[in-house]
Amino acid sequence: MKNIRVMSVFGTRPEAIKMAPLVKELAAREGIESLCCVTAQHRQMLDSVLEVFDLKPDWDLDIMTPRQTLSTITSKCLLGMDEAIDALKPDLILVHGDTSTTFAGALSAFYHQVKVGHVEAGLRTYDKYSPFPEEMNRVMTSRLADLHFCPTAGNRDNLRRESVRGDLFITGNTVIDALRTTVRSRFHFSTEELNHLPYGEKKVCLVTCHRRENYGEPMKNIMIALRRIAEENKDVELVYPVHLSPVVRESVDQYLRGAPRVHLIDPLPADEMHNLMALCYLVLTDSGGLQEEAPALGKPVLVLRRETERPEAVAAGTVKLAGVAQDDIVTMATRLLRDREAYDKMARAVNPYGDGRACGRIADAVEWHFGLRRDPPEDYSGV
Ligand code: UD1
Ligand code: UDP
Repeated sequence: MKNIRVMSVFGTRPEAIKMAPLVKELAAREGIESLCCVTAQHRQMLDSVLEVFDLKPDWDLDIMTPRQTLSTITSKCLLGMDEAIDALKPDLILVHGDTSTTFAGALSAFYHQVKVGHVEAGLRTYDKYSPFPEEMNRVMTSRLADLHFCPTAGNRDNLRRESVRGDLFITGNTVIDALRTTVRSRFHFSTEELNHLPYGEKKVCLVTCHRRENYGEPMKNIMIALRRIAEENKDVELVYPVHLSPVVRESVDQYLRGAPRVHLIDPLPADEMHNLMALCYLVLTDSGGLQEEAPALGKPVLVLRRETERPEAVAAGTVKLAGVAQDDIVTMATRLLRDREAYDKMARAVNPYGDGRACGRIADAVEWHFGLRRDPPEDYSGV
């Protein structure tokens, strides 16, 4: 029997981190040929992940341009995908999450009448503009997908309520699979500065911020709040690997650069980021992925957004929504820096997002769908 050709499509840093272990898991399956097509919606940040996980794409659309617009990304992805699909002839295309690459990848698969599997399906805020444009990218991808790999039962329930067509699986999030391969004791950072931070003695806070809905006033508020946190707390060291988006960099330069005890560094390779997270005291972020990784490592997270499509760790108590108002962010961070009891309540390792076996379940589901396995995988039941 001929191998099933499964083409994973991704383009940004977080998709690559979450798809890398799956591409490898599929490659290890006998009846499957695992193909990898990158849009390179991100260039440097994608290449860094490919290097860490030792992945070589079969096809590279190389679409990124500085200050790209949503329309440019989507249209370049669509045009490039035509060629990739014609050349690689996949039986199934896997897309991940909620980026422009995700939606364009799924739409292109549909135009070619190739089946679509959606990894990290079913997350919702039900607010069209938050996260923007990710909420609608994810919703539209659900409409196009045949197989839906939901990280949690809540995500699956969202899709059931929406009467989404296709097969629904609860798999856990592949980010936990990735994290299990990167975090090590006595890790040596290639970013030398990170080897000398006073992790035990001072409170090392890890910061990231990049969301499009935070561009402008919210991002300005966040940067000023971070400055105030560093100025008002002498025992804090704030480490911020700054996203390569020029809009983000301008905001950082204007409102945060030069503040005391603030380390502004370039984006970190994924393994360095994960190990830094394991060593830090607290995470402040508007990132989706960090909201999933930090709880697994027992680190409290203040989310620099008004709402989240990842409510599970909020319910578990390790993540709190801080919003985007200056005073709210400063007040909530100060409490966690000065009130040990409040901190300890949040700093518990919880794993609502997975058990490290999501990729195995997804590969099993693909095999089952194509008749290579008798039974579908058992749903991830939470740990
Ligand atoms: C994108 C995703 C977002 C995801 C984020 C992860 C969309 C609409 N947004 O947002 O969901 O959370 O990635 O980081 O798909 N740049 C570089 N080099 C890089 C990466 C980016 O120079 O390696 C710069 C470029 O100028 C680029 C800009 O950053 O134009 C913005 O990148 P883009 O992918 O458009 O949006 P993000 O904000 O990164
Ligand atoms: N990350 C990284 N280096 C950094 C910042 C983040 O490797 O300098 C990782 C992080 O650990 C997580 C992912 O990138 O796995 C999150 O990506 P991002 O915040 O860009 O996107 P989001 O998750 O919000 O879509």
